[in-house]
Amino acid sequence: MGVEQSQSRRSFLALVSGLGAGAIGLVLGLPGLRYIADPLRKTGGKKGRWVAVGQLAALSEKFPVEVPVVGEQVDAWTRSPEVRLGTAWLRREGDKVLAWNAECPHLGCKIAFDRDTSHFGCPCHESSFSENGKRLGGPAPRSLDPLDTRVKDGLVEIRFVRFRAQTPDREEIG
Ligand code: FES
Repeated sequence: MGVEQSQSRRSFLALVSGLGAGAIGLVLGLPGLRYIADPLRKTGGKKGRWVAVGQLAALSEKFPVEVPVVGEQVDAWTRSPEVRLGTAWLRREGDKVLAWNAECPHLGCKIAFDRDTSHFGCPCHESSFSENGKRLGGPAPRSLDPLDTRVKDGLVEIRFVRFRAQTPDREEIG
């Protein structure tokens, strides 16, 4: 076998080996790519996911209503259809809906609403918020975290997203 033939054979084997490694890498990396791309595609590049939370007609304009947020959860390997993602407070304003994540921006306790005072409050360290979610007092570093909403054929959907706690600036974390 000549020197040229030997070099050409080595180049061919290197090419085949490189293509094989690339194919394996692509197959192994697909679940990760799906995890990154899937939620972003559904929310127009934003974090979180759109979740149906009930009928517009069931909401009140006088006081907010607490709703469980149940939806699909996707990680690198599994897709679970009915997972409790969190809790939200919803209030109707005409044909629109205001929504807030029920996690306290201080340390994440679940926010309650007092119909007598029309204030939101946190039972853990007594942060308080107006009926529009504005911070009034306590250790919470910011107001309640609002959520995007939309209404389709009377069905209310929210873009459910969680936020970093203990920071004055609002930062979506997923
Ligand atoms: Fe809400 Fe501390 S967790 S005030």
